[in-house]
Amino acid sequence: MNNTVQGRTGPASSVSAAASGSAVAVLDVRRMGVSFEDGGKAKEILRDVSFRISAKEFVCIVGPSGAGKTTLVRCLAGLSRPTSGSVLLDGEPVVGPPARLALVAQDYSRSLMPWLRVRDNVRLPLRGKGISAAEQNARVARALGAVGLPGAEELYPRQLSGGMQQRVSIARALAYDPEILIMDEPFASVDAQTRAELEDLIMQLQRASQLSVVLITHDIDESVYLSDRILVLGGRPAGILQEYAIDLGRTRDQLETKALRQFAEYRSEVFRSIQAASAMMRKDDRP
Ligand SMILES: Nc1ncnc2c1ncn2[C@@H]1O[C@H](COP(=O)(O)OP(=O)(O)OP(=O)(O)O)[C@@H](O)[C@H]1O
Ligand SMILES: [Mg+2]
Repeated sequence: MNNTVQGRTGPASSVSAAASGSAVAVLDVRRMGVSFEDGGKAKEILRDVSFRISAKEFVCIVGPSGAGKTTLVRCLAGLSRPTSGSVLLDGEPVVGPPARLALVAQDYSRSLMPWLRVRDNVRLPLRGKGISAAEQNARVARALGAVGLPGAEELYPRQLSGGMQQRVSIARALAYDPEILIMDEPFASVDAQTRAELEDLIMQLQRASQLSVVLITHDIDESVYLSDRILVLGGRPAGILQEYAIDLGRTRDQLETKALRQFAEYRSEVFRSIQAASAMMRKDDRP
């Protein structure tokens, strides 16, 4: 089964250069498959997953719970190896965590070290990279400024709210100066207001740089609001079932963009697609 569907199915007709694949791919996932051992049997989670991420592109991956989104991003980030196929970063196979790629994990409360001050949390991945202490401190200050927490270096995570802690974990990824930022449900455990602020923060940071972002989310509105492109992952084993190019311009606003008729159309299409993926997975799960 090859359930990869290339091409666009959204309401507007044009496909952006980035979405059409004509731009240079920084990340190239080719027919990737992942299986796990389960009680002596191989459990196939992903099959024939293929897509490309271009420079400066913002791509969201959505799909039912258990589809394999985290499994997929772990392979992109070099934390796991696919069972088949390949992940290429600028044409080179990813065989371990690449220097130009940063991952923000879902659970900030577990990703920050509670016994370390914010400064040391943020500079943790910079250690042992041959970067001078002065440069490390400069990067920490710059990253904290970028996420709206200037001067928070001396604080401990427990002195910060959940949203602020998530900002620190984003700062840690930014201090790494990545070309690709991968985020696995980064805003799942913050309140709606903080979530909107963090969405806009990531979008601004991405627009102001060369950064490519791959963001996993369960929130359909969030995926449409942020994306240049949405990939729907689903099925058993899972593949890319749909791909939507989101043609809403590059300047977006929480109220104005979400009030657009086109936004509502994209939301309905993505919703239906995830529903279909869930139904397919429930059917396949029947004994
Ligand atoms: N190390 C592992 N060993 C065995 N099975 C695993 C392993 N990691 C993940 N799985 C299985 O792979 C499937 C996909 O898991 P994954 O965490 O990637 O899903 P997900 O799409 O991220 O779900 P959610 O939206 O709930 O976070 C699940 O059935 C899970 O049990
Ligand atoms: Mg997950």
